[in-house]
Amino acid sequence: MVTKVGQLSAVHTEIYTCTLCGLHSGRTRTVPGAGNPNAEILFIGEAPGYYEDQQGLPFVGKSGQYLDELLKQIGLARDDVFIANVVKCRPPDNRDPLADEMAACNPYIRRQIDIIDPLVIATLGRYSMGMFFPNARISTIHGQAKYGTVRAYYPFFHPAAVLRDSNLRPVMESDFARLLTVVEEVKRRRANDEMSATASDDANPPTEIDPESPKQMGLFD
Ligand code: URA
Repeated sequence: MVTKVGQLSAVHTEIYTCTLCGLHSGRTRTVPGAGNPNAEILFIGEAPGYYEDQQGLPFVGKSGQYLDELLKQIGLARDDVFIANVVKCRPPDNRDPLADEMAACNPYIRRQIDIIDPLVIATLGRYSMGMFFPNARISTIHGQAKYGTVRAYYPFFHPAAVLRDSNLRPVMESDFARLLTVVEEVKRRRANDEMSATASDDANPPTEIDPESPKQMGLFD
């Protein structure tokens, strides 16, 4: 049996030489993702920035330092989680990724999800949120878990947005403080066969959200 490490490294090897969209021509390095292949939590950001493109690693700039701080606040380190992005190459001048670039790159993150099989997919920012919460607004749904057939989806603001607007800091930190509760709830549901489906509904997750959530109304505003 090929281990998760082996399967991930096969995907990453394909990414290193990928030319499926125009972003390949401006990149220094691809940024497939990094962390623990057996992680319970998979963070998905947007796209590499300058430092990520230089180093080939996700979230190594200012946003990454803040992400490290948030992880530390809940007793986690990078080695406990896996961190990847919606697109694996830096868009020019850090512009937003385009729809065709995200579409071309999508099979990579889907394969990473299948291999890592995390209990929780934690999205960072609007673009990764859009993969699992189509048409949702981040200002409305951040910090609200959605439970699918095999895992939960938990949307965060992007760390860069929080660095730009310090009013978001307490919100971000309280959303983070609940992340491990979401992990525990998935474990409970799996143990009680409440998440017994073998087929993941990642591509089309349900619209149900955490009934304990304080902000249920307007999920799909
Ligand atoms: N922002 C992202 O979304 N991803 C990174 O890897 C770095 C910054």
